[in-house]
Amino acid sequence: MHDVNLPIPFGWFPVAYSKELKIGEVKPNFLFNEHQVLFRTESGEAKLMEAFCPHLGAHLAHGGKVVGERIACPFHAWELDGEGIVKHIPYAKAIPPKARTGSCLHSYPVQERNQMIFAWYHPRRIAPTFDLEDIPEFSDPEWSELETYEWEVNSPIQEMGENAVDIAHFVYVHSASHMPNAKINLHGHKRVTEMVTEAIKIDEHGNVDVSKTEDSYLISRNWGPGVSSQVFDRAFKTVMMGTMAPITAARMKLRFAFTKLKGLASPFDALTNGLIAEVVRQVGHDMVIWENKTYRDEPILCDGDGPIAKYRRWFSQFYDDGQDHVPLRLAS
Ligand code: FES
Ligand SMILES: [Fe+2]
Repeated sequence: MHDVNLPIPFGWFPVAYSKELKIGEVKPNFLFNEHQVLFRTESGEAKLMEAFCPHLGAHLAHGGKVVGERIACPFHAWELDGEGIVKHIPYAKAIPPKARTGSCLHSYPVQERNQMIFAWYHPRRIAPTFDLEDIPEFSDPEWSELETYEWEVNSPIQEMGENAVDIAHFVYVHSASHMPNAKINLHGHKRVTEMVTEAIKIDEHGNVDVSKTEDSYLISRNWGPGVSSQVFDRAFKTVMMGTMAPITAARMKLRFAFTKLKGLASPFDALTNGLIAEVVRQVGHDMVIWENKTYRDEPILCDGDGPIAKYRRWFSQFYDDGQDHVPLRLAS
């Protein structure tokens, strides 16, 4: 991506899948153009904090250790809790007054759901103004373990989301036979896109009939700029969580996690696998465009384009305008 001038938006963003962080594990992390330490305390809570120790600046993730609910610095063993408060200095009689007034390091609000650890980012450290929701299939034992894919892309995340409403590109980039029909509904931080495409007919036994077509439905739900679910609904149903995290303003991490019903009859299981492979393959098509395009702030749009302007207005609410907004009270 060339000449990007879009800032990093605020919102909930993926940090890691829950299973990637075991109790007592400490990992370096870099998102939002900031260095972080990610760790899981002995009671099982995931924490994400600024990386550099308030004492002499060691990176807490390079040699730091979990001690109960705290992290001990690898340099002089100061212990900080998950809120970034200095709790213990093994060789000092007292905690210095400067460290007694509260947090010495920013601790990002964290939540775990849909088998993933999410952190809230705001450039002015403002508390969460909206929440995420459960994707029911992601905690349902009838649904399979997640099949995951990830990419790093030189693009701001606003551009990724625009792909879903850019209906013309499905024909010219992804070789769809017809322009899909997309309806976009906006409710505050939520965005729901319903897309109907024409696809090859599949009957109730899983037989494919290439001479006929049928409607194929895709419902995408977005919660803020970083988290979405996609439900592919046909004779078989596949659910995907798509997440996007800004590494910097101009580089992002894209993750897809798919689940399907366990014990699907073989034609449907094969069709589901085919659908997953196709969705993943299509990212490759987009990648060439994303990595080389520029961002046009005032594009010339035509009547056949999808609801691109509407999408951009919705997305712009996640760029900090410097005003105070009412923070959300999250259940603890
Ligand atoms: S730098 Fe962390 S304890 Fe000294
Ligand atoms: Fe695309």
